Parts: sequence; C-alpha cells; structure tokens
Amino acid sequence: MKIFAYSIREDEKPALKDWEQAHPDVEVAYTDELLTPETAALAKGADSVVVYQQLDYTKETLEALAAVGVTNLSLRNVGTDNIDFDAAKALHFNISNVPVYSPNAIAEHSMIQLSRLLRRTKPMDEKVARHDLRWAPTIGREMRMQTVGIIGTGHIGRVAINILKGFGAKVIAYDKYPNPELQKEGIYVDNIDDLYAQADAISLYVPGVPENYHLYNRESIAKMKDGVILVNVSRGNLMDIDAIIEGLDSGKISDFAMDVYEHEVGLFNEDWEGKPFPDPKIADLIARDNVLVTPHIAFYTTKAVSEMVHQSFDAAVSFAKGETPKIAVKY
Ligand code: COI
Repeated sequence: MKIFAYSIREDEKPALKDWEQAHPDVEVAYTDELLTPETAALAKGADSVVVYQQLDYTKETLEALAAVGVTNLSLRNVGTDNIDFDAAKALHFNISNVPVYSPNAIAEHSMIQLSRLLRRTKPMDEKVARHDLRWAPTIGREMRMQTVGIIGTGHIGRVAINILKGFGAKVIAYDKYPNPELQKEGIYVDNIDDLYAQADAISLYVPGVPENYHLYNRESIAKMKDGVILVNVSRGNLMDIDAIIEGLDSGKISDFAMDVYEHEVGLFNEDWEGKPFPDPKIADLIARDNVLVTPHIAFYTTKAVSEMVHQSFDAAVSFAKGETPKIAVKY
C-alpha cells in the first residue's frame, strides 16, 4: 500500500516518522508542494493522498488527481470549506478530515488571549521591554469578575468552559444544538441576543459555514455590552472586520483577540519583516495596545500536529483497504 502526502512541513516530520515506524508495511512518499492540477501527478501509483492546505481543492485539482487514479483524500485538518464537493461527488472521492485533533490546543489559546487582554499584558510587556517598570496605568481586571459568553459548545467550546470555570468566571453559553450535560448545569441562555446583552467577554467556537457568516457584525455588536471583549480563534468569516474596527474606535469593544482572518490566505504564516505589509487593516490592529493578533496558531501545538498526521494517515489506510474510517466526511 502506498500513501502520498502533500505540503508536509518540517514540524510534521517527527510525527510522520513515528507513524511510518509503526506502519512498516505502508510505503509513504511526500512533498512540501501544495496539491494543484500541476502537482497531482506526483501521487500517481498511490492508494490515497494526505494533504493540508488552505488553497482550494478545485474541480481541476480533483480531476487531475482522479486522472492518475487517486480518489482517496485525507485532510490533516478539520476545515473542509475549501473543497469543491460537487466535483468530489461526481468523481466519487472518499474524503476524511480530522474533526478532533486537540480541542485543548484551540480552547487554551483563546482563553490565554482573553486573560492577556484582561491583564493588559501587551502594553505591560512593551513597558517592561523599554525598562519602564511602573505599575500605573496598566491595571488589569480579574477573570472571576467577568461573565464570559461562549458561542458554540462542541469539543472546543466545552474545554474553554472548563478553563473558565477554573478561573472562577461566570460562564453563559449559546448553541443551536445544546449539550445535554451543560443544559443540566443551566449554562445556556435562551437566545443569542441574551448572551450579547449579558456577556462582558465573548468567544466563538462555531464552524465557518454560511449560516454563521459575520456573526460578529454591526448589528450584533450593537446588542453587546459597552466595553465588551471579543475573541475569535475559529474562522475569519465569522466576523466583519470593519465592524470590529469601528467598535474598537468607538470604545464599544474594549479589547479584541483574533487568530483568524477572512483574508488570511497569503498573509498569515509568511514573514513580512522588512517588506511592505500588504494589509493596512491588520497592520492597524497589530499596532493597537488592546488588540492581540496571532496568525492562526491556536491549533499549532506538538500534540495537535501529531494527531493531525496520525489520524489522517490512519484514515488514508482505511480508505486504501476499502473501509470507511470513523472520520470520513459525509457529503
Ligand atoms: C483547521 O484544522 O481547519 C484549522 O483551522 C487549523 C489549520 C490552520 C491547520
């Protein structure tokens, strides 16, 4: 059995090596190149391909892969928003993703950022770096004094809730499909507007599907408390960045942390040092004391990366054997 993997990064290689050692019967080949119509032929002879990329899996790409006899596609990430599912269906592709690689990685990052905003670590670190060791005016706020609204109580949202409970914060939550355990705890508000009205800070854990498009927008922000803190580590298309900037400018939003951005492809995970920065809105946000911008790193831990590699390769083997892995995408 042969598996071909695309866009393998240096940081994935230790996990890949472990997996190969545990599966000596499987031949693994890989490239650091993206899967495109031009590179699809590299997978010729493979039973399955494994890939992670933000570049779209277009009809042309899928056709090129099918043309070399490969219709098993295992993603090393969770998001499937960049797949042309109509084309995949017509070409009879089997697809898997990794829906749960490490909820803690993402939940922890979001809550670390929320705590950093509350304790104003960005301006304090900057002061310390220039040897200004005075306390004032960089006074913080305590997590236990906050009502934190969690939108989306799947795997990641639930870990965030547990972290918040550890801090002693009051947690309220909203989900279209409430979790029965949390329901018993009485954590849910009746509707999302109640959460907007009550929360001092809000963090999102929902997928970037069309129904959630720009959940943080002018209208929803207007319903929030004055001085609300917003966090988004989930998907860039969940927020209207212009509405966020307006909210920061007016003081309606006191602090903001973002790990994702609607136009992040080609911007994040690139080194812009010494080069013209291409996105003035993000440059403006990065420069603010009360804003934390991170380049889609919430997932980026050794544990998560290892799970992404191991689970996707396991799924690729299942497909190659004619089986349906648990993490097959139903479409
Ligand atoms: C996903 O798994 O879809 C993510 O958002 C993380 C990705 C950048 C690897």
